[in-house]
Amino acid sequence: MLSIQGLAYSFEKEKPIFQGLTLNVKRGEFVSVIGASGSGKSTLFKLVTGLLEPNQGDILIDGKQTGKRLGSVGYMPQKDLLLPWRNVLENVLLPIEVTREHKQTKIPEIREWLSRFGLAEFEKAYPNELSGGMKQRVAFLRTLMTGKELLLLDEPFGALDSMTKRNMHKWLLGLWGELQKTVLFITHDLEEAILLSDRVYVLQDEGIKELKVNLPRPRSSQLIYQSEFLTMRKELEMLIHNEN
Ligand SMILES: Nc1ncnc2c1ncn2[C@@H]1O[C@H](COP(=O)(O)OP(=O)(O)OP(=O)(O)O)[C@@H](O)[C@H]1O
Ligand SMILES: [Mg+2]
Repeated sequence: MLSIQGLAYSFEKEKPIFQGLTLNVKRGEFVSVIGASGSGKSTLFKLVTGLLEPNQGDILIDGKQTGKRLGSVGYMPQKDLLLPWRNVLENVLLPIEVTREHKQTKIPEIREWLSRFGLAEFEKAYPNELSGGMKQRVAFLRTLMTGKELLLLDEPFGALDSMTKRNMHKWLLGLWGELQKTVLFITHDLEEAILLSDRVYVLQDEGIKELKVNLPRPRSSQLIYQSEFLTMRKELEMLIHNEN
């Protein structure tokens, strides 16, 4: 679904963020990218979406090297998620307006989703009237409405408290199982990365490492107390701190 080969990138005059980075995501996989703040996670996503162009290397989406990557993935950025002057429904309709699809025909479908996301009563609410978790769900729904199979989610739950986060995990795991989407997910929460993912990439100064998460699905949040989970967590920590 996504294939990145030999990627190199640096901002003007800065030291390179990536040098020869390789990363692959298969169709239907849930893959996380973890790494310290400033390691280049958001930059990686901007390269995949085409907001930035690599200095070297190839980025293939669905086997195609497109100059027009923007618009071939659903991208949920780290910040500035919702337009404050638009209500919930109008925010969710944004990708449909961009592709000039007929809005009215999509509204019943969107209303159904809003209701599934626990947002039925908030269709006319503005972002400043929503809780953090609600904003995240609206932004996620908007990403989903792009209709793209590959979704890039940049720390979607980063700003949430642990209780809300846990509910969002349950919700996302259920949804992902049902939708058959391919997800590339940025986080710096180790538990979150393991709980949700098939594989975890660790971005380091020296390059990238990979950990396979061999835990059965469907997964519940109770999994975090089990010994297999703790073993994985320890492995991931060792990778992050470069101890193996
Ligand atoms: N537009 C820019 N111009 C110059 N340098 C930039 C620009 N955007 C990001 N950087 C630098 O690139 C590096 C990687 O930034 P990036 O936002 O990708 O990190 P990140 O891993 O997403 O961090 P965080 O976990 O804090 O979100 C940082 O050192 C940052 O200062
Ligand atoms: Mg970031």
